Amino acid sequence: MDKMIVHGGSLLQGEVTMSGSKNSALPILAATLLTREPCIIEHVPDLSDIHYMLTILNMLGSEVERASGIVKVRATHLRTEAPYDIVRKMRASVCILGPLLGREHAATVSLPGGCVIGDRPIDLHLRGFEELGATVQVKGGDIHLLASHLHGTTIHLRGKYGPTVLGTGNIMMAAVLAEGTTVIEGAATEPEVTDLAEVLIKMGARIHGSGTSRIIIEGVRELHGFRHTIIPDRIEAGTFLIAAAMAGKKVTLHRVIPQHLEALLHVLEEAGVPLKIKKESITITASPSLKALSIETLPFPGFATDLQAQLSAMLCTTQGVSTITEHVFPQRFMHLAELKRMGANIELDGARATIIGVDQLSGAPVMASDLRASAALVLAALRADGPTEINRVYHIDRGYEGIDRKLNKLGAKIQRIQE
Ligand code: EPZ
Repeated sequence: MDKMIVHGGSLLQGEVTMSGSKNSALPILAATLLTREPCIIEHVPDLSDIHYMLTILNMLGSEVERASGIVKVRATHLRTEAPYDIVRKMRASVCILGPLLGREHAATVSLPGGCVIGDRPIDLHLRGFEELGATVQVKGGDIHLLASHLHGTTIHLRGKYGPTVLGTGNIMMAAVLAEGTTVIEGAATEPEVTDLAEVLIKMGARIHGSGTSRIIIEGVRELHGFRHTIIPDRIEAGTFLIAAAMAGKKVTLHRVIPQHLEALLHVLEEAGVPLKIKKESITITASPSLKALSIETLPFPGFATDLQAQLSAMLCTTQGVSTITEHVFPQRFMHLAELKRMGANIELDGARATIIGVDQLSGAPVMASDLRASAALVLAALRADGPTEINRVYHIDRGYEGIDRKLNKLGAKIQRIQE
């Protein structure tokens, strides 16, 4: 298992280009199962989660080719079963359910296991499939979906914690080949859902209203191949913006879509960070001192839960008292215990963390627990006194393409040790 040693204290400076979005690429790769024709996807990030998805597609019978960010997939013949061994490695593998059901009217996929960011049910996905006409059975750890035909209907997808991102994608992918019109009420409005809808439209689907909470899908008989470039990763960009706000002199991010980052940009401005926003780039310059903040995570366009851990790291050394309330995954606070090992002053009460800024964090051996928690530890380590040893960095490789390489290019001192 690799680990990283981060030597804190360097100031970040320079330019860095963002990769394609992991959370956009995963369901779009799954969408290739909807057609026999070849599909070409560009700007696919080189990440272990993407590798798992390509392995799953391959196991289902797709021919997969990959070269420098371009992935070609052709799903001429399909199997409809994905076994536990591979599915357990990545929760996002549930997004093959929708396309398998849509095209083959059958799917057997292992139920994903527990997840460190909290209980992650898929009840809304399954209810949606049932409403489209599938029978759903959970047996022996597997989800079995079967339908004689799928029919359009109105599906309410909003759950206790808001809309579901992968659930919206899954239902869209099943409904595009259903008979008649499906209306998704309470749909997720995340840019990754819109990117998937754009791909489905390129394939010949009839979809209106993506990006709003009401998506209308008129079923078609057949879908075609497509060529698509994945949108830039807004969470990677957000992570670099927070890193620059904490430990930067002047950093420019290229290949970003500022509209996807509005909530974070607003928060950074409120903290006193000077920003220069252009069409596809953002420049951030050092602020002599940051202001304390009160943040609540919310579905898009609210402040993203996937940036909560990184912002927590920033607030650890921001003078004053800040609060963070997590509404999307109320238990997503594993990183706080590790930040406390580095000297942070944090109190957690249910889904609300109170962070009292300290002058300095100190390097310590810490453990990465999930993807964004690991990123938060890297950011905290950049601001810490002395070296921080981050163990289990495979978590970070699931979702950040060369984060150590990119940060080192900006002047950080991060060593990766292969064990
Ligand atoms: C997606 O997960 C992302 N994953 C997550 O990114 C992200 O944190 C999350 O959306 C929220 O933005 C991918 O896109 C691959 P949800 P998803 O269904 O779709 C509850 C990262 O770090 N819920 O929108 O699985 C759920 O428990 C990650 O890159 C139900 O109750 O999340 C949560 O409280 C991790 N029943 C809320 O809804 C359901 O059937 C939102 O979850 C489904 C979800």
